[in-house]
Amino acid sequence: MKVKFNAEGLQTIDVNAESRLLDALLSRNVGVQMLCGGRGLCATCHVYVLKNPQNLTPPTSKESLTLSVLTGAKANSRLSCQAHVIGDDIEIAFPEGLYIDSVESLEKLVGQRTRVPILHPVTGDVLVAANKIIIRTIVEELKNLDFEISKVKYVEAHKKD
Ligand code: FES
Repeated sequence: MKVKFNAEGLQTIDVNAESRLLDALLSRNVGVQMLCGGRGLCATCHVYVLKNPQNLTPPTSKESLTLSVLTGAKANSRLSCQAHVIGDDIEIAFPEGLYIDSVESLEKLVGQRTRVPILHPVTGDVLVAANKIIIRTIVEELKNLDFEISKVKYVEAHKKD
């Protein structure tokens, strides 16, 4: 079965039936942070399905809940760690942006201009817009931001599942 995705030009991966979409991406070394360890609780494996969404398993209630609070989610959004490939010729695209896992990671980028938005790895919020120079003031403003998945408020909702 084939999955096409838009990293550095359109690439095609052959995948086994029933494998996770995420595994297909990882097999090509696509930088997926998997902050939640593939549990359907973060933004870092979020993709848009452009073609043949019916060839993926339907979203679980957990996935739907996470997507419902994810900034940038659309009707064709999926979490690649939750979606299993059950048919051929799927095409996906990644949300524009770079997920960072901590303020320290952002601090390393001080002085650089971001080509793409810098995104929160759990909520998908845009922390720094594209084409901005990352200055120390921005980093200071984000110092109190919580990057840990267990502490992000909406995740609490999953505990009720
Ligand atoms: S790796 Fe976190 S939701 Fe998929």
